[in-house]
Amino acid sequence: MDKFVIEGGRRLMGTVRLQSAKNSVLPLLAASILTTEQVVLHETPRITDVACMIQILRELGAEVRFEGDDVIIESADASNHRISSALTRELRSSVFMLGSLLARFHRAACAYPGGCDIGLRPIDLHLNALKRLGVEISERDGYIVCECERLKGAEIVLDFPSVGATENILLAAVMAEGRTVLEGAAKEPEIVDLANFLNCMGAKVEGAGSDTVEIEGVQRLHGASYTPVKDRIEAGSFLIGTAICGGEVEVIGVHADALGLLLHKLRENGCKIHTKNDKIKIASTGRLKCNRRIETMPFPGFPTDLQAQATALNCTAEGGALIVENLFETRFKYAPELRKMGADIEVRERTAFVRGVQRLHGASVTCGDLRGGAALVLAALGAEGTSEVLDLSHVDRGYADFEGKLKKLGANIRRVRA
Ligand code: EPZ
Repeated sequence: MDKFVIEGGRRLMGTVRLQSAKNSVLPLLAASILTTEQVVLHETPRITDVACMIQILRELGAEVRFEGDDVIIESADASNHRISSALTRELRSSVFMLGSLLARFHRAACAYPGGCDIGLRPIDLHLNALKRLGVEISERDGYIVCECERLKGAEIVLDFPSVGATENILLAAVMAEGRTVLEGAAKEPEIVDLANFLNCMGAKVEGAGSDTVEIEGVQRLHGASYTPVKDRIEAGSFLIGTAICGGEVEVIGVHADALGLLLHKLRENGCKIHTKNDKIKIASTGRLKCNRRIETMPFPGFPTDLQAQATALNCTAEGGALIVENLFETRFKYAPELRKMGADIEVRERTAFVRGVQRLHGASVTCGDLRGGAALVLAALGAEGTSEVLDLSHVDRGYADFEGKLKKLGANIRRVRA
């Protein structure tokens, strides 16, 4: 397992060009099999979650190749509708392949995606919605088996604005018979990006980004060439990293409103934030004030995918902070690793109590999940002395060339290959 060796204490200065959003590229890849024509996704990040989704598409019989940063998908010959358990376990978000497989083949099967290190992650909202669209669902030998004569538009209400369930519904409804009205939809920018991509393919999706999305089913979809939105969570990670280390960094490719409450919270810490179109610049002295309270919420609230990074920031800010994780059951598994660096953080169920200390010290810490791992990297960059961050497979799932981008900003970080 690769590790990072980090000498903390360097300020970060410069510009970051963001990758395309992992959480947009994944559903766009799932959508690519809705047509038998060629689909091209530009500026696709080389991250392992994307590699895994490409493997799933190949397992279904699609031809997928990289040309530079473009991914080209030809799925005319795709005929398999089953996703293997190994791949579903590897990539939980493959569950929204069900929607596109049903739209294409009227049947789909995938292993029950287990829980993971951040929570149980059930899929009841996905399955109930698919049933509303006329899908028969059964379980056989650990597989979820979905079948339908044809998909019929329906009125669907989500009890919770699940991102994945919203995406699954869009993918299943775009070629269903008639109209689907989805109430209680997730409003993340990646949902809007998926709707825009589907409309580029000839779909009729309206209202994405609001609570109510309407989809008029069409007969077929044609190929498309598309550039996904940039990664707002990568942007937030670099902004928080700069706040922790001190310095001045500009991230390019994301609008302020895509970051929810993060910018407000960074200003609360004492950072200077300047935004213009798709550029966000942060300046920090590195000595910050704690956010008294951060509560993660569905978009446009504070993003759960930046919770760990914001907690790391509060560990060396002045005062105390209460961090409440409202979306996932166990998304504080990185806390003991921060304690090894001298953080004063206590976790009770979904709440972390942080008391800011003057400085963290270097330590050997291990990543347990993607965003917790990113938080450990950011903490190590601001810590005194040398740190090792182990098991980078988690970080490599969602950050392309993380160390290269950090080095360009002045960080002293190097990857040691296992
Ligand atoms: C997406 O996961 C993202 N992943 C996650 O990012 C992100 O944290 C999450 O949305 C919330 O924003 C991708 O887009 C690939 P949800 P998803 O369905 O779709 C419960 C990262 O680090 N729920 O909105 O799985 C669920 O248990 C990843 O990039 C049900 O109860 O999130 C959770 O508590 C991590 N039943 C909450 O909803 C369901 O059927 C949010 O889940 C579905 C979800």
